[in-house]
Parts: sequence; C-alpha cells; structure tokens
Amino acid sequence: MKKVMIAFAMAVTCLCTSNVFASPQQEIYLEIGSEIHDYLKTKFEDRFVELDSAAGKRLVKTDMDALPWISMLVHREFKQCGGYFTFFTEKEAREQFRMRNQEFFYESVDEALYKLNQPKLVKQLITGVQEAPLRDVITKLSSFHNRYYNAQTGVDSQNYIKNHWEDILRTRSDAKVEFFEHSRWMQPSVIASIQGSTAPDEYIVIGGHADSIAGFWGRSSVRAPGADDNASGIATITEIMRVLVENNFQPQRTVLFMAYAAEEVGLLGSKEIAQKFKKDGKSVVGVIQLDMTNFNGSKEDIVLISDNTNSGQNQFMGKLLDTYLPGLSWTNDQCGYACSDHASWNAQGFPVSAPFEAKKRNMNRNIHTKNDTIAKSGGTADHAVKFAKLTLAFIAELDH
Ligand code: BES
Ligand code: ZN
Repeated sequence: MKKVMIAFAMAVTCLCTSNVFASPQQEIYLEIGSEIHDYLKTKFEDRFVELDSAAGKRLVKTDMDALPWISMLVHREFKQCGGYFTFFTEKEAREQFRMRNQEFFYESVDEALYKLNQPKLVKQLITGVQEAPLRDVITKLSSFHNRYYNAQTGVDSQNYIKNHWEDILRTRSDAKVEFFEHSRWMQPSVIASIQGSTAPDEYIVIGGHADSIAGFWGRSSVRAPGADDNASGIATITEIMRVLVENNFQPQRTVLFMAYAAEEVGLLGSKEIAQKFKKDGKSVVGVIQLDMTNFNGSKEDIVLISDNTNSGQNQFMGKLLDTYLPGLSWTNDQCGYACSDHASWNAQGFPVSAPFEAKKRNMNRNIHTKNDTIAKSGGTADHAVKFAKLTLAFIAELDH
C-alpha cells in the first residue's frame, strides 16, 4: 500500500518561499479534518478539490507543490504538525477513505437515525396503550398447561398467537402472519409483518420469546404458566401491534413482530432467525427484545440491559424515555450472560436493546416455576404498559 503518513518538519516548510500559488504539478490526494479543509480551501481555491467527505473528514485532490505550504499553514493556524494521510492515485484514495471512515460514516448515519422528530405521532400512539388487552393476552397465554418448545401445548400456544395477531391485522392488506418452522423441535416461531411503504427492505424488529419452562424432569408435561417469563413480553408486543393498527400507522420501513420458539433451552429459535437474516443480507435497522415486562421489582420503572446489546441504540432508548415518558424512571443493568434473545441478534451484529422489568437483583423469583402467574404482579398488566409505550416511541422515531 502506498499510504504514507506525512509529518513535515518545520525545516521543510521554511525552505518554501512566497509563491503559494505555484503552477500545479503531480496530483496527490489527502485525507484531512474538515476544519483544516475549510481554511486551506480559502488559500488554495481550485488547487484544492474536495472528492469525498465523512463526519469530520474530507478527501481532497491537490498537487505535490502545495504540500509544503499546506504543512506550514496547518502548523501556523492549527498548531499541529502534518499528520495527513496521503495517497497517489484517486482510486486508492477513494477506497481507503471510505474504508478508514466507515465508523465515522455510520456514526453520522446513526445521528440522523436517532434524531427525535415525531413528537405528535409518538404522543398519539402512547396515549392509545391500554392495560386490559395486555392483561387478557397474559391470562390467555398462562392458561396453556405450558408453552414448552417440544410439547404439543407449546405448538397450540403458537397457533393462538398466530390467530390472534391475524385477527388484529385483518384490516391491513399490507400485513401478514407466518410460522417460522424449526426442523429440530416441534414449536414454530411466529412472525408478523407490516410492510414498509418507501423502504420495505429495511426492518424494525420487535420480539420476545413465547415458550415457557419449569421443572427439570418431564418438562414437556410440567405446568409452566410463564406469565411474566414471557407471556408479558408477547402481550406487550401484541398491544403495540393493536395500537399501531388502531392508529392506522403506515410505516416507511417494514415492522416485524416476532414470538420466538425455544428461548428457554438456549435461545434456539431467535438464533436460527437472526442467523437467517444475516445470511440473507437483510438490513435490520433496530431490534427490541421484550422478555419480562410485568414485575415491578425495583424503584426504577425500566432497566436497559447493557450487555449483549447496542450502546448507541441504548442511548437512543434513554433519549426516548427522557423525552416522551418523563414520568418514568430508568437505569442500566447487566444480565452478565446471554440471558435472552437480544444476544442472538447482537451476535449477528444487529443493533438491539432489551428493556427489562427490574434490576437483576430485584427480578421476579417465580419464573421457571408453576407460580409464575399474573397474581404475582398484583393481577394487572400496569407495569407492561410502560414497555408498550416506550417501544411505540421507538418504532415511530426509528421509522422517520
Ligand atoms: N426471561 C429470562 C431472561 C432473564 C433472566 C433476564 C433473568 C434477566 C434476568 C429467560 O427466559 C431465561 O430464563 N434465560 C435463561 C438463559 C437461556 C440462555 C436459557 C436464564 O437466564 O437462565
Ligand atoms: Zn426464562
């Protein structure tokens, strides 16, 4: 590679005489900071041609004779010594610039992506969230003997989710609900979509696991209501879908709702789905994992899981909370391991956040037992309502 870091000694620049505007000679290409670029452009005018830019950086074409002058001026005006990346062909310069500035490039994209500009829409959606339909879904899902990944009742419960989602989406010609079949166990995942109008190939994914588990032996026949873990997450997703449809929300990007199979035995369902999305080259703009949303065990309302998630998107979540749900308190905490399906998306490089019901040390201790019922949350879905609101804000803002 003919990439050279040029750091000119002041001795070199001092050899230069008065003619900054000497005639152009051999072309060279420099990667420099935007501020320096803007200053040098005023001096070199058309001997200084911008070819590309990424956040805070510019790629310019100039000529060899200008180099000592550039060095001298930068030293004098910006108190720094050279430090430009120099290239000798335009092709190499353009390629290297793009490659080296990927990170900056994405940061600048994210800045736009995470800008809040839909206050009216978000407020309208948030107002529509109701506790009763959320509670009904938790109650219904807990009534299956279990939702085990390799039991008939775990298949039946997925049929219920598919039918219920189809019912909610029945007025929408741009929506559909499908099973995602897994070859190694009985329970399918369920995926619903509302197709994006202008960017249908970009996806916003809202997911949670639908399976439940309890006991050690004969798990396929053990009672496992899984009201909090994770009927609450599926009910939250269902309420989000209901509110979007009720408000006739037309997304630009495609919104996917996922009820994963087989999380409780090693994140198996979500792993297959995230791997397939990666293999198919799908563009996933953001993922939310809703696992356990209805046990109010901490003083904070919402806890953002900080490990196996995306820190940029988590900051966006914080901004959404502060802006649109100022009455709620929130904090961060770690799971300490790949504790739910967000880890499957994170492992494939997709940006994911996981808002959780409590700090880990205050979590619901009844999960994975026959006692994981809605009674342990006071018989209401009040806590889960907050997660539906936050996720609706996420969808509306990420989509625009
Ligand atoms: N809902 C839990 C995840 C969870 C547990 C989050 C504790 C926060 C605190 C999930 O369904 C679960 O039980 N996960 C398993 C791990 C999985 C890889 C089998 C767990 O935590 O043991
Ligand atoms: Zn669990």
